[in-house]
Amino acid sequence: MKTDLIRTIVVLILVGVGIQLIPVTMSNPPIEEEISTSPEVKAILKRACYDCHSHETIWPGDSRVAPISWLLAWDVREGREELNFSTWNQYGEKKRNKMIKEIWEEVEEGEMPPWFYLPLHPEAQLSDEDHAVLQAWAASVPSVSEEEDDH
Ligand code: HEC
Repeated sequence: MKTDLIRTIVVLILVGVGIQLIPVTMSNPPIEEEISTSPEVKAILKRACYDCHSHETIWPGDSRVAPISWLLAWDVREGREELNFSTWNQYGEKKRNKMIKEIWEEVEEGEMPPWFYLPLHPEAQLSDEDHAVLQAWAASVPSVSEEEDDH
């Protein structure tokens, strides 16, 4: 019994150390072209979205420990893939407008920023005032139908 327990603990320690050796990419590639918006909108996006949707991610020190680092790196990779404020040049005008509408939709539904991000980033909690700014921003761009999507 006792040697089983010791063996289990040793294995757990080895696994815990071993997974640290699996490389994770935690990088901030160069900014190609940042989204241009009003300073009010930009401030909200920077505060609540840039960690996962830009090349200006702040990678905290304690996030470098696996498996937390994997979750974080995955979020940032997926987040940048869906929406990247640092490569705004890669979106055509219709795509930009569509993303702006989608940003407000996600925020209105409470999907973004993700709930698990908030406890460690209370500054990302959006107020009614922030909501009003994003809603007005979305209303200021023309609607784009799905068929018209130019990618
Ligand atoms: C902790 C990381 C994180 C933060 C912070 C974050 N997002 Fe996201 N976001 C993601 C990930 C991951 C995805 C892709 C997977 C998904 O849709 O859940 C995503 C997807 C999206 C999408 C595409 C949704 C879809 O289903 O097509 C939009 C729009 C979006 N986010 C907007 C925002 C906005 C606006 C903010 C800030 C108010 C924000 N996100 C903050 C991680 C994040």
